[in-house]
Amino acid sequence: MAMLTLGILGSGSGSNLQAIIDAIDSGLLEARIALVLSDNPDAFILERAKNHGIPTGLIACSPFRTKFPDTAQQETALGLSQAGVDLVCLAGFLRLVKAPLLAAFPSRILNIHPSLLPAFPGLEAWKQALEASAVVTGVTVHLVDAGMDTGPILRQEAVSIMPFDTAETLHQRIQAVEHRLYPEVIASYAKKLFS
Ligand code: GAR
Repeated sequence: MAMLTLGILGSGSGSNLQAIIDAIDSGLLEARIALVLSDNPDAFILERAKNHGIPTGLIACSPFRTKFPDTAQQETALGLSQAGVDLVCLAGFLRLVKAPLLAAFPSRILNIHPSLLPAFPGLEAWKQALEASAVVTGVTVHLVDAGMDTGPILRQEAVSIMPFDTAETLHQRIQAVEHRLYPEVIASYAKKLFS
């Protein structure tokens, strides 16, 4: 099989991108990242990519604050295809992916979400878990469909919520799990898909 080629979409700090880069560098994940795209020009994920010599691009969603317009999805699909991307990984990407992008990468878009789905879909799931007084939450890696955090689940891992947890301490422990889990699941899913 040719080298797995990843495209990463993110809106924020990009610590999951960093975990994927680190897994590639240490040989845990046999892949290359061809392109990192963000809808947020100020997102640190773009800096991280540039620091590692990975090409970056902006997804133009303005004037929409949360919507991912069809034209932007088409351009994103084109950019990813032209970069030779086999598998798209959402890493803290906060807009809903719909038909144009899903159709271009059928069963080839993964997402990582900071809860045990179907519990706490949507934004800041760790805060939702705290507000619900849950005693356990976790991490889910799933295939992306047109719903909000609804696609088929590939892997989940639980994270206990401690009585002393704040939103920050809980999100930190969740992210530690994310950083280990995402590269592992990407590697095993790619193996299934392409071998
Ligand atoms: C991660 O915790 C990820 O699970 C979450 O955003 C954070 C991004 O962190 N994603 C979602 O909530 C998607 N619904 P990062 O930018 O440091 O990787």
